[in-house]
Amino acid sequence: VREAQMRSIVETVPEAMVVIDERGIVTSFSATAERLFGYRANEVCGENVSLLMPSPDREAHDAYISRYLTTGERRIIGYGRVVTGRRKDGSTFPMELAIGEAVANSQRIFTGFIRDLTSRKKIEEELRQAQ
Ligand code: HEM
Repeated sequence: VREAQMRSIVETVPEAMVVIDERGIVTSFSATAERLFGYRANEVCGENVSLLMPSPDREAHDAYISRYLTTGERRIIGYGRVVTGRRKDGSTFPMELAIGEAVANSQRIFTGFIRDLTSRKKIEEELRQAQ
């Protein structure tokens, strides 16, 4: 994908989108991701994606990626998973994570699409209380 094309996708995609390289380093962080996590793209790009999650995943995430690169066994790619995200202010929230994989300039990249589940969880909780 060309730089300009990539930038236009990142600026308009409705879900939060985070792109990482195979070391887990963030190379792209969408405007929606900025709003969701409270970080500006320039604070996150060049950092490890583990910045966006609480322990114990934060310490283990490099190993998750290595395991995938070594075994090829997909656990989230192609399936999605509900996980816990962490904002800049340290607060955490439930999020649905979908991961895709692509090869760009003979480099493997992973694209993460993130949906904030906070309001869905809140409504589920209210419905439970109302029963
Ligand atoms: C794997 C958590 C964000 C890329 C995993 C696994 C967990 C996890 C638990 C391992 C699953 C297993 O072994 O059973 C999280 C959390 C995130 C997050 C809590 C919150 C921000 C991301 C993002 C990307 C990403 C944004 C990519 C842009 C990967 C890759 C793997 C992985 C490539 C290995 C492939 C796979 O298991 O299918 N992550 N992740 N993660 N994650 Fe993340």
